[in-house]
Amino acid sequence: MAKVRTIFRCPDCGTSAPKWVGQCPGCSTWGSLVEELDGPSGASEVVGLVPSSGPPVPIADVDPTEFTPRPTGIPELDRVLGGGLVPGSVTLLGGEPGIGKSTVLLQAAAEVAASGRTVLYITGEESPQQVRLRAERLGALHPLLYLAAESSVPNVVRSIDGVGPELVVVDSIQTLSVPELASAPGSVAQVRECSHRLVQEAKQRGCAVVLVGHVTKEGNLAGPRVLEHLVDTVLAFEGDRHHALRLLRVVKHRFGSTQELGLFEMTEHGLVGVPDPSGLFLADRRVGVPGSVVVPTMEGARPLLVELQALAATSHLPSPRRSAQGVEQGRLSMVLAVLERRVQLPVANLDVYALAVGGVRVNEPGADLALGLAVASALRGRPAPPDLVACGEVGLGGELRQVAHTPRRLAEAARLGFKRAMVPYSAPQTVEGIELMRVGTLADAIDRVGLT
Ligand code: TYD
Ligand code: MG
Repeated sequence: MAKVRTIFRCPDCGTSAPKWVGQCPGCSTWGSLVEELDGPSGASEVVGLVPSSGPPVPIADVDPTEFTPRPTGIPELDRVLGGGLVPGSVTLLGGEPGIGKSTVLLQAAAEVAASGRTVLYITGEESPQQVRLRAERLGALHPLLYLAAESSVPNVVRSIDGVGPELVVVDSIQTLSVPELASAPGSVAQVRECSHRLVQEAKQRGCAVVLVGHVTKEGNLAGPRVLEHLVDTVLAFEGDRHHALRLLRVVKHRFGSTQELGLFEMTEHGLVGVPDPSGLFLADRRVGVPGSVVVPTMEGARPLLVELQALAATSHLPSPRRSAQGVEQGRLSMVLAVLERRVQLPVANLDVYALAVGGVRVNEPGADLALGLAVASALRGRPAPPDLVACGEVGLGGELRQVAHTPRRLAEAARLGFKRAMVPYSAPQTVEGIELMRVGTLADAIDRVGLT
């Protein structure tokens, strides 16, 4: 067999070089060249991701049943996937190390096996013994769940041949390699080539493949952003290491909506779905404490009630401290500037701490109003009304703007027993059981709840 050649290519301009050089000869970018396989066996785009379907047919005549998702048996995962994993599809599950990727996939693998389908779990990070011990704790020992420790793609393909699974889990893509490439496992070249081959296996055999990908702190899949266009679905597993809550988001989904959100709690028995997250977030709330306001946020298509807390204290620092946890630093600074200049609240010389309770991240502008009220409440040392939620975006002039899905947010607030909602004038007519307090500016809002 002819030896496969490797070349080095610049992903920016496409120029190739036979040897690695520091600067791309084509576009002069430094350090951009990555190794790849030359010729038709490589991950060249010559081999399509979709097999040829023959002559064109009217769109309504295309048979969609091939893409019917099959449930994994983990309800929160199925919700995010729009029903389950589609046969022949490739899903990438990204997340920081230790967040629970292996746990959730082992649980899903066991559920799929329990439903009578064969599953192959490829482990490249933990030994089979370690995985077995974990599976035992999770109650995931099932005769149709096969396990193999493997780091080379040809061997993985042989294992697939041997077992004939309907679902293959690869944990993780960064530990796999193909022998033709000299670069180390986890390099861009390896990750891309390995994924490409597994995608082809999935399409040819019609088995679902899930790839685990570790994500760096910056949120990039270590190297392989390149991978996202190869796969059908990209899921991101997020959460704060110090909290039990885990969020499963869809970044890309060829078979459905990217609006769904899955919520899990990490327990000693693995990940458990959280069907009522608002209830969970508010469970430990102490009413009547200054600096606490509840905001009905949206996470994808899912309304979530989150308690925002603020604390203000005299600063002894030349530039006062502004600490934001679970709240965007930039939005906190903006709200503080509006409070100082438009509401005439003296916050400039105060240390301000703001926090979204429960390890959740609230990044949407709709939380501005609640944040402003929480800071005002902390500053005055008086609590906001306990039965009140607030949502609205604050503009630089102190004016309030409505945010999307107000009715759905308020319905969730009503469900959890809140009686009043502070919203901008323009907010649509509302839900039963919630009295609207319409306000025009942040100053009005603070005035209406008696915090001036
Ligand atoms: P893991 O699935 O190994 O994370 P990843 O594959 O994303 O790197 O999970 C890591 C953490 O989860 C580990 O620190 C311990 C915790 N954990 C539990 O709390 N309960 C459990 O039942 C399991 C299996 C793990
Ligand atoms: Mg793992």
